[in-house]
Amino acid sequence: MTDSSFPAEKGKRLFVCGATSAIALPVCRRLAADSASFFLVARNAQRLDRVAADLSTRGAARVETRCLDLTKTARHSDLVSEAFATFGEFDIAFLAHGILGDPSRVVEDPKEAEKVLQTNFTSAVSLLTLLANRFEKQRRGTIAVITSVAGDRGRKSNYVYGSAKAGLTVFLQGLRHRLHSAGVRVVAIKPGFILTPMTENLARKPLAVEPKQIAPDILRSFESGPEEVYTPWFWKPIMTAIRWIPEPLFKRLDL
Ligand SMILES: NC(=O)c1ccc[n+]([C@@H]2O[C@H](COP(=O)([O-])OP(=O)(O)OC[C@H]3O[C@@H](n4cnc5c(N)ncnc54)[C@H](OP(=O)(O)O)[C@@H]3O)[C@@H](O)[C@H]2O)c1
Repeated sequence: MTDSSFPAEKGKRLFVCGATSAIALPVCRRLAADSASFFLVARNAQRLDRVAADLSTRGAARVETRCLDLTKTARHSDLVSEAFATFGEFDIAFLAHGILGDPSRVVEDPKEAEKVLQTNFTSAVSLLTLLANRFEKQRRGTIAVITSVAGDRGRKSNYVYGSAKAGLTVFLQGLRHRLHSAGVRVVAIKPGFILTPMTENLARKPLAVEPKQIAPDILRSFESGPEEVYTPWFWKPIMTAIRWIPEPLFKRLDL
């Protein structure tokens, strides 16, 4: 994809978790074309190798990969140390890992609910705490994390996932407050419905768009503008309206 509105500097260094995410891919491709270097982390080795080869072909200056189940938080300290030892500093840390969970089990099975919280919230908090310490020292850069519009109001269809993303969004607000004086941007990216493997089994995907359609918003957010970004833009007024629906009415809606 091309996005001429994004004023990319050449050769950025990125630390990317959930690097095989369908949403992350067009973002990384765009930066690869500007000779970015990548430290990529995901679980599935084959998919990760394919993404690394793709980014190299598109112009990435350097691509390092590490396979890790990010719910193993005891491994995070070594992971972040290794990444910074390899690249020195990072311009952007981009966290894109996440799961929706099995919708039929997650409301009835505490283990499934815990997996959703660990993947979407606990693992991100652990990584962000380590990354924040590094970015605070380097006094520059952007920490960008994909949360979700699902965190704006709990709904019966996905409140476990939504509560993890809500917690993550509030964590990012506090982190932004902490890192402001160090000159570090902390961006919460809130997509609506995006057509990716994560949503392919959902029966309803209102106003769904392709990942490449939201990549320009994500790329811009790395550099400037609001640090809480709804994408596509129309999800901001939609979620404002949904938050305002009075509870007695909301309980009767099939959302
Ligand atoms: N699609 C949507 O409609 C939508 C809307 C709002 C927010 N989001 C958020 O956007 C982000 C990206 O999702 P996506 O739609 O691009 O889905 P996706 O293509 O399924 O990507 C999910 C990514 O998360 C990684 N991941 C999951 N569990 C992991 C774990 N335990 N350890 C390490 N990596 C793990 C996956 O790696 P492996 O492939 O190696 O397992 C994959 O790279 C997620 O945070 C999601 O919650 C998505």
